[in-house]
Amino acid sequence: MKKTLFLLLLFPVLVFGNTIWGKTGHRVTGQIAQNYLTGKAKRALNDLLEGHSLAFVSTFADDIKADRSYSKYSAWHYVNYPLGTSYRDSDKSEYGDIVVAIEECIQKVKNNENSKEDRVFHLKMLIHLIGDLHQPMHASRVEDKGGNDIQVQWFGEGSNLHRVWDKNLIESYGMTYSELAYELSDVDKKKRKAIQGGTIYDWVDESHAICAELYDSVEIGDKLGYRYSYDYNDLLFQQLQKGGIRLAKVLNDLFD
Ligand code: ADE
Ligand code: ZN
Ligand code: ZN
Repeated sequence: MKKTLFLLLLFPVLVFGNTIWGKTGHRVTGQIAQNYLTGKAKRALNDLLEGHSLAFVSTFADDIKADRSYSKYSAWHYVNYPLGTSYRDSDKSEYGDIVVAIEECIQKVKNNENSKEDRVFHLKMLIHLIGDLHQPMHASRVEDKGGNDIQVQWFGEGSNLHRVWDKNLIESYGMTYSELAYELSDVDKKKRKAIQGGTIYDWVDESHAICAELYDSVEIGDKLGYRYSYDYNDLLFQQLQKGGIRLAKVLNDLFD
């Protein structure tokens, strides 16, 4: 009985455990974006999301991973291409990738002739994927599946480089998503404009370059803990903040 319960509790971890930019990261990004929406975008979002917040719907794309009928969307959460190269020049996966997916979502939501259901589905995916785009290990390399195969220890427990960035680092603060979003939401207009510059193509290459640095700073079997957390605190917060501020930009443009 105990063993069955244990396996049941472990099931989601075994199946999805190492590929999800944790719920906290997505909610922080959604909550930050909420602060920078135009009136027009707020009204359109309120209508489509039936009053739910961006933070609330931001985890939808991970929640549906449990359902096999959505398996075609699993390649939408990331992209892998050789380090030191650009997305534009890379060979594209036949299954799609996060950049193609973001563009498709924007087109689907924009087109009023699509059903509300279809538009809402793609809007929720979009809100999630802009978050994933800012998790550096989601713009990564194929050899080790975006760091999933780089086993490390996190405060003495087994983990891997991908998982450290999906959840270990952010969870080590012990803060709620609203507390983190509050800390990261005081950004003046000049800084916001700078962050919102560029295109999805620039943003994916920026994450990809950060990812290359993260690979350089870790070896298989490393024991990570306070030192790593201290070294990468600012980078983690910067990515969450950029994700939120750019999500607002994408949504404001979409509903303009
Ligand atoms: N599977 C393969 N590559 C991946 C990546 N970069 N992120 C998440 N899952 C992956
Ligand atoms: Zn992930
Ligand atoms: Zn995801």
